[in-house]
Parts: sequence; structure tokens; C-alpha cells
Amino acid sequence: MAFNVLTVSGSLRAASSNTGLIKMAQRLAPAELVIADPYPIRDLPFYDGDLDTPETLPAVCAAWRTAVADCDALLWAAPEYNYSVSGVMKNAIDWASRPFGANALGGLVSTVVTSAGGGGGSKCQEYLINVLGLLGGTVVNDPEIGLKMGPGLVSADGSTTDPEVEALVSARLANLLAHLTNA
Ligand SMILES: Cc1cc2nc3c(=O)[nH]c(=O)nc-3n(C[C@H](O)[C@H](O)[C@H](O)COP(=O)(O)O)c2cc1C
Repeated sequence: MAFNVLTVSGSLRAASSNTGLIKMAQRLAPAELVIADPYPIRDLPFYDGDLDTPETLPAVCAAWRTAVADCDALLWAAPEYNYSVSGVMKNAIDWASRPFGANALGGLVSTVVTSAGGGGGSKCQEYLINVLGLLGGTVVNDPEIGLKMGPGLVSADGSTTDPEVEALVSARLANLLAHLTNA
């Protein structure tokens, strides 16, 4: 049985190390995990309640909600922006969590990695794990992956000069698969 893993990179820049972590996960994933390319969250408009009605909901927002509802797990690769997640990532969370009573993130299995500056994204990671839990999800976070000065470690194509990063990503994917298999 294969599990479909939706992915979100919180960094939009072409050389993003967070996008690189997703590419690395695609390369290292066991056959039972099908890891998607980063979802194009840049296409989502800013959350606006006036757009969030059956008559006005943009097709891109409906498609994003469907993608979240249909996946088996979600891999969040987050840069830390001012001790929190990036605005584009928070916007994607906000769209997925609505409309009220139809929160697509409820019950979802997530896994979080961060590539950030000197702190490795620990504050951002703590924030994101807390939010995903409050929304009713489960977060598989062992072993912890928070890359300090990540852009110097991982390229956008998923390559790295540090085998330890690959070992951590492989171990995380194995734990995610074990969780999904036993759920
Ligand atoms: C607006 C902004 C705020 C940032 N704030 C933090 C921060 O609070 N902590 C940190 O460790 N890095 C911070 N950084 C650095 C980014 O997390 C870091 O460059 C990250 O690797 C970018 O991810 P990317 O390679 O995927 O683009 C910030 C960068 C930007 C642009």
C-alpha cells in the first residue's frame, strides 16, 4: 500500500533550501511513500472571508482544500520568518482550516522540517507543531530536523554536502511510514 504525502514549502524563492528538503525527501523516500512536488501555495490569494463562500470561492482555494482532504500526510518545510512561519505558509493553513466545521487539517498526519538561520527554526517549528495539534492533527516529529543556516547546507534540487542531513530525513520518513502503517 502506498501513502500520498502532500508537501508545502514555506519559501517561494527558486533557490529555497526548504524546497530542497522536499526534493531530498522525494529522492530518499521508501517506495510506500509517494511524495508530491511542493504544492503551488503562491497561487492562493490572501485569506478573505468574502471569497470564502460557495458563490465566490476561487477554484485554486477549493483545489487546495481537496488536496489536503485527500492526502494521507502532509510534509511542511518551513523557513523561520521572525520567529514564526512565513506568511504564505500561514495563509495556506488558514485556507485549509476553513470553512468553519470543515477543517481539512483536523485528523491529518503532518511532519515538520525547518531550514532557517542561526536558530535552526526552533521557534517556528514549535509554533507550527502547536498550531497543527490545536487544529486536530497529529505531528510525527522524530528525529527533529531543524537546519541551522540551511541555505548553505541544502540546495533547491535536494542535494547536500552533509550526509547527516540525509540520514535525518531518511529516519524521519521511516518513522512517518511506520506511523501511517500502524494507524
Ligand atoms: C523576513 C525574514 C525573517 C527571518 N527571520 C528569521 C528568524 O526569525 N530566525 C531564523 O533563524 N532565520 C530567519 N530568517 C532566515 C531564514 O529562515 C533562512 O534564510 C531560511 O533558510 C530561508 O529558507 P529558504 O532557504 O527555504 O528560502 C529570516 C528570513 C527572512 C527573509
